[in-house]
Amino acid sequence: MADVEDQPPVPVQTHRGNRPEIVGGDEPESPFPVELAGPVQRGFGRGGKDLGCPTANLPEDTLHKLASVTKTGIYFGFAQVSPPDDQPDALTEEERKVYPMVMSLGWNPYYKNEKMTAEVHIMYNFRHDFYGFPMRVIVLGYIRPELDYISREALIDDIETDKRVGVNSLARPGYKKYATDPFFPS
Ligand SMILES: Cc1cc2nc3c(=O)[nH]c(=O)nc-3n(C[C@H](O)[C@H](O)[C@H](O)COP(=O)(O)O)c2cc1C
Repeated sequence: MADVEDQPPVPVQTHRGNRPEIVGGDEPESPFPVELAGPVQRGFGRGGKDLGCPTANLPEDTLHKLASVTKTGIYFGFAQVSPPDDQPDALTEEERKVYPMVMSLGWNPYYKNEKMTAEVHIMYNFRHDFYGFPMRVIVLGYIRPELDYISREALIDDIETDKRVGVNSLARPGYKKYATDPFFPS
């Protein structure tokens, strides 16, 4: 695992420029799709829920797989959570479906993290936490670099835009088809 000495400088968001509402071409571009799987890890508990984006962290070993082929930043794709073998009824039918996700890969400069993380925000209103449950993710494209923020509101604003950009970008046929990829158990 890289440590704080490896942390690159991160630009500070200084103005609310217009951001595009859709990113990437008609099809995912290399190195995507990237498939990741692992049990959900506990986050830092700084209040992703308060930010309107509760996140499910991927384990560190899956993170290296992605970090070796891409840069830090905000990504979009699809994700699915499954019940653990010993708790087959722990998720409802709705909760087991494949949903759009946005993911932050990096150092979370706003929170001055010392470790890299891959935090996945699944666009479904889960009623409870699911730490330790198996999660599968297909990363399909890059949205923007990670930024440092002058305020929490500015971060929330950008995360709301990320969600819209993710949903819009995934609606194209070249991306939508991954929601039914055999990688996701039915
Ligand atoms: C789509 C998305 C975009 C994010 N963008 C940034 C960012 O640009 N800068 C930053 O410092 N953190 C960013 N974050 C990280 C959030 O600050 C972090 O996920 C949140 O604080 C949850 O932390 P927790 O796991 O401790 O609850 C982003 C998270 C998501 C899901």
